[in-house]
Amino acid sequence: MVNIAEMPNGLISAAYVVAALLFIFSLSGLSKQETSETGNLYGMVGMAIALIATIADERVSNVFVIFVAMAIGSFIGLRLAKKVEMTGMPELVAILHSFVGLAAVLVGYNSYFEMDHSFQLNITDTQQMAINIHLVEVFLGVFIGAVTFTGSIVAFAKLRGVISSTALMLPHRHKLNLVAGIVSFVLMIHFVQSSGSGAPLYLMTLIAFVFGWHLVASIGGADMPVVVSMLNSYSGWAAAAAGFMLNNDLLIITGALVGSSGAILSYIMCKAMNRSFISVIAGGFGTDIVVNDDKDYGDHVEINAESVADLLRGAKSVIITPGYGMAVAQAQYPVYEMTQALKDKGIDVRFAIHPVAGRLPGHMNVLLAEAKVPYDIVLGMDEINADFPETDVVLVIGANDTVNPSAAEDPTSPIAGMPVLEVWNAKEVIVFKRSMNPGYAGVQNPLFFKDNTQMLFGDAKESVERIFKAL
Ligand code: TAP
Repeated sequence: MVNIAEMPNGLISAAYVVAALLFIFSLSGLSKQETSETGNLYGMVGMAIALIATIADERVSNVFVIFVAMAIGSFIGLRLAKKVEMTGMPELVAILHSFVGLAAVLVGYNSYFEMDHSFQLNITDTQQMAINIHLVEVFLGVFIGAVTFTGSIVAFAKLRGVISSTALMLPHRHKLNLVAGIVSFVLMIHFVQSSGSGAPLYLMTLIAFVFGWHLVASIGGADMPVVVSMLNSYSGWAAAAAGFMLNNDLLIITGALVGSSGAILSYIMCKAMNRSFISVIAGGFGTDIVVNDDKDYGDHVEINAESVADLLRGAKSVIITPGYGMAVAQAQYPVYEMTQALKDKGIDVRFAIHPVAGRLPGHMNVLLAEAKVPYDIVLGMDEINADFPETDVVLVIGANDTVNPSAAEDPTSPIAGMPVLEVWNAKEVIVFKRSMNPGYAGVQNPLFFKDNTQMLFGDAKESVERIFKAL
C-alpha cells in the first residue's frame, strides 16, 4: 500500500489527471437531469482524490493544520448545507464565491511576501522573465480575487435584501470603471518594473475592492441571475490565478473549468433574458424607464380551489408553469400528487420551465426532481411555448415575471424583450399567489387582468392541496 505521506510526484500528477477528468465528467453529467446524480458523484470522488493528492505533496509541511482546517470547514459547510432553504441558495452561493475571492487575495499576498525581494545583479534573462511572470500572476490573482470578494458580498447583500437591489447610478459610472481598469494596468507595469515594490500592489488591491463593489452595485435587481453566474465565473478565474501562484496544475484546471462554465451559463442567462452580456456588466438595466404604477389594468377575477378542480376535470391538456412562489411554499410535493391524479384521469399534464424561474439556474427542475416528477413531462420554454394555444388550462403556480405579457407587448416595460412563457394564449389561466403584489422585477403583470385569467389567492401549497382533495 502507498503511504500518502510519501506519495511520489509522478503519482500525484496521475491523481491530478484522474481528478481533472472526473471534474469534466461531473460537469457533463450535471448538464442533464437524468445524469446529474452520477455527475455529482464524479465531482465528489474527484475532489476527494484531489485533496488526498494535495495533502500528500512533499511541499506541504504541516498536514496537521490542514486536517484541523478541513474539519472546521466541513463542520460549517455541512451545517450550512443542511440548514439552507432552496430559496436561500443564491445567497449562499454568492457568499461562498466571496470566500474564493478572498482566498485568491490571501494566496497572492502570501506568494508576494515569500518572494526574495532583494535586488539581484547577476541574474540571467530567463530568471528575470520567470520573476516577471510570477509578479504578473500575483498581481492578476490579487486583482481578480479582490473584485470577486467585494462583488460577491454586494450580490449576497442584494439577494438577502440587506441592501436595495436597485442599480446604483453614480455619475460617469462607465468612465469610473474604465479609469479603475487603466490605473490598475499601469500599476501592474510599475509593479513588474520595480521587481515587486509593495506600493502598486497595495494601491491596486484597494482599487479592485472598490471596483468589485461598484461593478455589482450598479447592476439592477432584474439582472441578478446573470450576476450570480458571472461571479461564479470570476471565482473560477480567481481559483485558477491562485493555482498559478501555488504552482498547482489541478487548481488551474479546476479554476478554468469553473470560470468557463460560469461564463457559458452567464451567456445562456443573458440569452434567456434577451440581454447582451456587455450591457449587464455595464449595469443600470431598466433604470432609465419610468414604471407607470398608476396605469389602470381593469379588474381581476377570483376563483376558489373547488372550481379549479372542476375546470381541471373537464380539461384534456394542462400545463403547469412553476415559479419562485412554488419554491417558497414548498408546493412541489402536492403539485406532484395533483399531477398524478390528473394523469390517472387521462389528462395530459406537462410542466413549462422558464430559464430564470425561481432564484437560481435550474431551481424549478431541482424542486420537481426532488418531488419525483418524471423528467419527460418537464419541458423548457422553447420546447413548449408554441403549445399554449392548444392547451385547455394553465396553472401558474407562484410564477410572475416569467409569465408577464408586458415583456412581449409593452416596449416601455423594464422587462421588455425578455422572452416569457406565453401562458395567456391558453384557453384558461389560473394564477396561484397570495396577493396582487408584483414579482421580483417589481413590475405589474397585465396577465392577472386578462379575460381568460382567474386568480386563486392563498399559499400555493395549501391551494394545491385543496385542489387535490377536491379532485
Ligand atoms: P417572481 O417574479 O419572483 O414572482 C414570484 C411570485 O410568487 C410572486 O408574485 C409572489 O406573489 C408569489 N409567491 C410568493 N410566495 C408565495 C406563496 N407562498 N404561495 C403562492 N405564491 C407565492 O417569480 P418567477 O416568475 O419565478 O420569476 C423569477 C424572477 O427572479 C425573475 O425576475 C428573475 O429574473 C429573477 N431572478 C432569477 C434568478 C435565477 S437564476 N433564476 C436569480 C435571481 C433573480 P405574492 O407575494 O402575491 O404571493
